[in-house]
Amino acid sequence: MCVDIGACGVRGVAHRIRNAEIYQSAYYSVDDFDTVFALKSVIDELEKQLGTHFGSAYITGDFGPSYFKMSAKNTVWPNDHKITPQDIKSQISEIEAPDGFYPMHIIPLRYDTPKIRNMLSPIGHSDRQLISAFSALFFDGEYMQKILGILRHAHIQATAFFTPHFLWNCMLREKQQTVMFIDFGAENTTTSIWTDRGPVWYNGRAVGGNDLTTEISTRLDIPFGEAERIKRGVANLKSNEMARFSPADSAYAFSCADVNEIVTPFYNNLLQEIKNNCAEYIDKYSLTKIVIGGGGARINGIEEFITSAFNNIQLIKKDTDWTVRTLANYIWECELPRRQAYIARANKIQNRVDKIFRLFHRHRKPRKRQIPILPSTLCFDMTRPETYTMFQTGGISAIHVDIMDGLYVNRIAGGIDELRQIRASWGGHLHVHLMTDAPAEWARSAIDAGADTVILSTNTSGLRAAVQIVRHAGKRVGIALNPESSVSLLKTILRDLDEVMIMAVSPGAPGQEFNRDVLHKITVLNTTRKKYGLKFTISVDGGINAETARLCWAAGADALVSGSYLANAPDFPLAILSLMPPEKQ
Ligand code: DX5
Ligand code: ZN
Repeated sequence: MCVDIGACGVRGVAHRIRNAEIYQSAYYSVDDFDTVFALKSVIDELEKQLGTHFGSAYITGDFGPSYFKMSAKNTVWPNDHKITPQDIKSQISEIEAPDGFYPMHIIPLRYDTPKIRNMLSPIGHSDRQLISAFSALFFDGEYMQKILGILRHAHIQATAFFTPHFLWNCMLREKQQTVMFIDFGAENTTTSIWTDRGPVWYNGRAVGGNDLTTEISTRLDIPFGEAERIKRGVANLKSNEMARFSPADSAYAFSCADVNEIVTPFYNNLLQEIKNNCAEYIDKYSLTKIVIGGGGARINGIEEFITSAFNNIQLIKKDTDWTVRTLANYIWECELPRRQAYIARANKIQNRVDKIFRLFHRHRKPRKRQIPILPSTLCFDMTRPETYTMFQTGGISAIHVDIMDGLYVNRIAGGIDELRQIRASWGGHLHVHLMTDAPAEWARSAIDAGADTVILSTNTSGLRAAVQIVRHAGKRVGIALNPESSVSLLKTILRDLDEVMIMAVSPGAPGQEFNRDVLHKITVLNTTRKKYGLKFTISVDGGINAETARLCWAAGADALVSGSYLANAPDFPLAILSLMPPEKQ
């Protein structure tokens, strides 16, 4: 769980992780000046949404008065010495915190040795001296105690603290950019400047949104809560002629302009002060852009106001929930090595289990992952070896072989010879779709030619006998239900089937449009099999593309046949992925 603790609200993001993947996420925020209440409410809600309990959290937010300094540390050894992480740690421990302050971020800016200057990391180098420059950011101990108290009251511990500026820099600043971050908080306004090396300036001002509200409240003689509401509603930094004639609120006599006459100078002063404080750094490091966040960044017209104050510099404004989301992303990225290690460990264990399993079950074929997407032979050249290689790169485990006899549909395609030739080139599953009259005969020949599943068509004579022939041959058997046929047609035979294939187009040709009316048949079949404990699978054939696939999965399909969509896709494996059930994409 990650939380952003602000003086007038708390925002939280939580993830549930399963097998090193984000399994479920939740976001919640509460705007309230009572921070303990807001924090408790956020924790309760996130726990409820994810059905879990949190004992600790990563914390970001306004940490009150700060102190920033850059310091250089020099270590000299009698002889050449191989520099270790411990050497850097001891240099860091020499950085002194001002009285009553607590260190939060210590970031190395550069490392120099007599042999090599300006290194990213000196670890492993041998030299007689190491001069390091660090940026260190400290926060007021008393204020931090206040935050720890809030956390204690909400029964949560802090795993680690991060200033929003640190997170924003990690996730937002691109290489070779100098970015200024301004966090307009309720109690404090903090500004920092970051280069590729790290923070070169950080400054907190104990002036924020609450002070502006207080000023509005005293000058217009209204309660604080009312002033806050009116500020959020009408404050605007863009001058507007009509503001003089628009009442700020129906309950009061003053106009929007009266409010803005307080708001504009307030922001003017704040910005002027920021500019004066960091002018030297802006020039020295040539600023590339400004990023603003926090509640105060929500005020109308702030973009133009700041860009014009800083010579039309590029400005990015972020929503209030963005900081906590950035924290969650940052933590998730930091976890990458652990995630990868977990996956590697899990694979290793799986491989060992597989090995042992194979030792005891030598006669069994190793289980292959089944991909529920079947390419239709109608749209591919099955005489070319490249077709099979392409299927393999897409992870295909079964091919759908379409056979048309020119009688059941008025086209001849595929055939037993082609099936035999496909069998010779393909070791995987063959799913044979017979669009033929005389299903019993065709089924026998298909099985002889190597079919693993035989799908028969309705409205043919001898359908029942054909089903039994396939069953007795020990192969899977299914029936294709044409778009105009109803599910009830299968009532008496359903128990004998391994598969029902819903035709979403009229059998006969690839490239037809998916008929959405057939979707309800998938749902009906899905409920029927659950109700009666039947085992048949549900597949869909015709008009499948990324969009219609989603509809089929949602309705309860188990496998999809696709012809023209896959054949026309520029990238076969990517197209397969786009058809997969959402949880497997
Ligand atoms: C239709 C066939 C389908 C069809 C699939 O008669 O049974 O297998 O060729 O192709 P698309 O996906 O293009 O509809
Ligand atoms: Zn088909």
